[in-house]
Amino acid sequence: MRTQVVIVGGGPSGLLLGQLLHLAGIDAVILERKSRDYVLGRIRAGVLERGLVDLMGQAGVDARMKTEGFVHDGTLIGYDGEMFRVDFAHHTDATVMVYGQTEVTRDLYDARDATGGDTRFEVDNVVIHDADTDAPFVTFDQGGESHHIDCDFVAGCDGFHGVSRKTIPDAVRTDFEKVYPFGWLGVLSETPPVNDELIYANSARGFALCSMRNAQLSRYYIQCDTADSPDNWTDDAFWDELRRRIPAEAAETLITGPSIEKSIAPLRSFVTEPMRWGRLFLCGDAAHIVPPTGAKGLNTAASDVHYLNQGLRQFYADGDSHGIDTYSQKALARVWKTQRFSWWFSNLMHHYPGQTDFDKKMQLAELAFLRDSPEAQAAMALNYVGLPY
Ligand code: FAD
Ligand code: PHB
Repeated sequence: MRTQVVIVGGGPSGLLLGQLLHLAGIDAVILERKSRDYVLGRIRAGVLERGLVDLMGQAGVDARMKTEGFVHDGTLIGYDGEMFRVDFAHHTDATVMVYGQTEVTRDLYDARDATGGDTRFEVDNVVIHDADTDAPFVTFDQGGESHHIDCDFVAGCDGFHGVSRKTIPDAVRTDFEKVYPFGWLGVLSETPPVNDELIYANSARGFALCSMRNAQLSRYYIQCDTADSPDNWTDDAFWDELRRRIPAEAAETLITGPSIEKSIAPLRSFVTEPMRWGRLFLCGDAAHIVPPTGAKGLNTAASDVHYLNQGLRQFYADGDSHGIDTYSQKALARVWKTQRFSWWFSNLMHHYPGQTDFDKKMQLAELAFLRDSPEAQAAMALNYVGLPY
């Protein structure tokens, strides 16, 4: 079997790349380890930057997002019992879109079905061979049979735990990592959101976030210990703790209900360099992870997809390899800026074990500076709506 690009991973990066390549007449096979239902059942990102919104348009999959998504032109930040607002539309010429990763993925799968694209689910033992030669190939098992695909390029879109990054030899690769001493316990509930914009809250008991998916579906998070388990939290205990961490005016109007999903995500900053090895290109979580504070993970995956799509189109259109040759450099330049923003915002908003009174005062002083300084708010807004590609 032969195709032009093998895409390892059928998450949002792999699907978006597959769709954009298809529109340029470039063939791809997508290999996904899990079932489609499993991928669609993962509750993850909720906020899309303008760059991803534009890419959804370019990929021809933005119809539902345009009617069902919610445009947000600001966010609220709570600390020390008060709240202030950062107005994205005032400080930038952009807004963000609240539209769940699940919906993005569903729209992309529907589009892929419509194109008749070859997507293999529940594949095992994916191995990328000879990526540093001009004739790479990928082998995998599916339904008890072994398969072999020859290709021009491999896109490693298989997330943090995938095989693609590990295919790049240790001697070539440098990993940069920071693991945070806490996680986020997230709850999804069929209740109206407490507020029509997101609330990021710094409290002495730890960080909390009030987010949403739609008018009847809320997503809330509280900072928790890394060793904690969702089983330790009844719904009532979660709601009580959330109320204690968010500003009183929000706590008083919070509508609670049964959780329909409850999970813990660890917080990590991670980047691998380079993002290309021969004919293998890493995209999204396969190459980098951010803590979710600031909503940059899916969005940074999207900017990688943009650069890779441009590079591959240029290569297939006129044999020009400039785009793919500069892929890693271009993607990483933006990746490090989003890493910085996510790291900064995480440091500002969380309670750290062993944090001294001085450290706490520094957080409060920085929050007061952000509240009072239009320039600081402009810097935050520029990063939140997404740096240009
Ligand atoms: P993934 O979504 O991890 O997809 C990779 C796919 O590859 C998976 O389907 C996996 O099954 C498959 N795979 C893995 N190994 C193999 C293999 N060996 N062979 C074949 N397939 C394989 N980001 C934002 O931008 N905004 C947010 O608001 C936001 N909120 C978040 C909240 C939480 C709680 C979490 C956990 C994450 C959040 N993120 C957010 C991050 C975002 O979800 C990820 O950055 C995004 O999923 C990355 O997409 P991806 O396609 O690169 O990787
Ligand atoms: C979410 O809605 O899941 C979400 C929103 C904003 C974040 C992280 C997660 O910063």
